[in-house]
Amino acid sequence: MTKRIDLFDSTYTHFTQQVLEAIRRETFGQDIGQNSWLTVEEYDRFISWLRLAPEHHVLEVASGSGGPALYLANQVGCQVTGIDANESGVATATQSAVKADQTDQVSFKVADANAPLSFEESSFDAILCIDSMNHFPNRLSVFQEWHRVLRPGQRAVFTDPVVITGPVTNDELALRSSIGLFLFVPPGVNEGLIEKAGFHLVQQEDVTENAALISGRWHQARQRHKETLLQIEAKSALWVFNNSLQQCIA
Ligand SMILES: C[S@@+](CC[C@H](N)C(=O)[O-])C[C@H]1O[C@@H](n2cnc3c(N)ncnc32)[C@H](O)[C@@H]1O
Repeated sequence: MTKRIDLFDSTYTHFTQQVLEAIRRETFGQDIGQNSWLTVEEYDRFISWLRLAPEHHVLEVASGSGGPALYLANQVGCQVTGIDANESGVATATQSAVKADQTDQVSFKVADANAPLSFEESSFDAILCIDSMNHFPNRLSVFQEWHRVLRPGQRAVFTDPVVITGPVTNDELALRSSIGLFLFVPPGVNEGLIEKAGFHLVQQEDVTENAALISGRWHQARQRHKETLLQIEAKSALWVFNNSLQQCIA
């Protein structure tokens, strides 16, 4: 049985330490504070699917370090509310918003995306959720909540980094999910739940190739900085990836 490791808490607590910043630069090229498998080019492409305007208000589900939300607000000029279950993530995100002088535009709160959301219906013009869908086992309820809080006709974009599209061993799955709760699904499950929740699938892209490239770079960067990482993370360097699909629903 693989040991469970609270990597998110460690990552967000130490997010601004030099070693983690160096690893992100070596992995992503441009570091916007992402804790995902997306380069900025991909991020820009997926946010363009949301058709955002400055007057819009975006809900970012599982906003992590807050860096991507601040980037989005800067790029579009819109409002962003980020929710994440990890308290250290929300604390780091809030500090970054203060530091960037963006607290009037971007805010963060601790919330479990698997639970009913504490927002009125039709509160948001878009929803963005990057590389976190795998943590949502109540996925139909999650989509139904998204449908409720989105204004009619508006869009949500999410990425699912663990869609299983080929052979995989039990050890690979155990390693991949050693940081917490994971739901692995085959192609077709998300698509069915999207429709069941009242959305329509507008656009979908298989980005496995890029996810594999980024995860390879991430792994190598972590290897290069192993000694420093061990001081802050103990022995928690486990990264195995399968597949990633980007989906845009409306
Ligand atoms: C791979 S990270 C992605 C973070 C961010 N979206 C990004 O692109 O950098 C996954 C995030 O999901 C969050 N998460 C896990 N389970 C959650 C839940 N039930 N509700 C809200 N957030 C959750 C974690 O705390 C973590 O920040």
